[in-house]
Amino acid sequence: MLKNTETRYGTIAIVIHWLTALMVIGLFALGWWMLTLTYYDDWYRLGPWWHKSFGITLLAISVLRVLWMLVNTKPEPIGSRLERLGAKISHLLLYLLLFTVMLSGFLISTADGSSISVFGLFSVPALITDLPGQADVAGEVHWYAAVALMIVAGGHALAALKHHFINKDSSFVRMFGKTKRI
Ligand code: HEM
Ligand code: HEM
Repeated sequence: MLKNTETRYGTIAIVIHWLTALMVIGLFALGWWMLTLTYYDDWYRLGPWWHKSFGITLLAISVLRVLWMLVNTKPEPIGSRLERLGAKISHLLLYLLLFTVMLSGFLISTADGSSISVFGLFSVPALITDLPGQADVAGEVHWYAAVALMIVAGGHALAALKHHFINKDSSFVRMFGKTKRI
């Protein structure tokens, strides 16, 4: 089933969630590795090319995700009042950080007016350019927001595992389309 129900996530939300998790971790690792490259490395230009191509793809997927969320139901929250509040705040924070990282990445890449090539298939044009110190400020925001995203996502993953192994409820398995923990 494509749509969410009261008790579990639907295929579209599930595929987007796990694809996002994979891409966020991959983009963070690639971005960090890019910092170690020197001008004479083959990957000095190739690294950012892949990073930006996947980054723009993730941005497009995330916009679709939010639109899909607006026309979809959400599974009922699970856990104590405090856990439900914690989950709500951390999910909101994950979305905010995700968009901050992607939009700041876009602003670094397009600060000088260059467009972004996406896998060499098409280009996304610059929208905002030449703000004072644009590349530097966006670069700082990109780094700190990416680190914060990894920390919150780490806590989020631990919370998911705690629900599964300690509380033994269905919140982890419902991100795989099941309604009950076996
Ligand atoms: C969730 C998605 C993303 C994550 C986790 C991520 C993570 C990172 C990290 C850890 C770095 C190295 C540290 C730094 O210089 O800031 C980096 C660099 C960079 N990222 Fe991203 N990034 C993401 C999305 C994007 C997007 C969408 C773009 C642009 C379209 C982008 C463009 C860049 C650029 C141009 C750099 C090099 C910055 C510099 O040399 O100062 N990133 N990214
Ligand atoms: C690394 C990047 C990740 C991001 C950005 C992320 C983001 C999110 C968001 C925003 C939600 C709320 C539901 C929605 O809006 O679709 C969610 C739900 C969920 N995530 Fe993640 N997630 C990540 C990684 C992980 C990992 C590694 C795990 C497991 C180890 C995990 C397990 C779950 C589970 C079980 C739910 C459902 C919670 C519930 O039942 O309400 N996530 N995630």
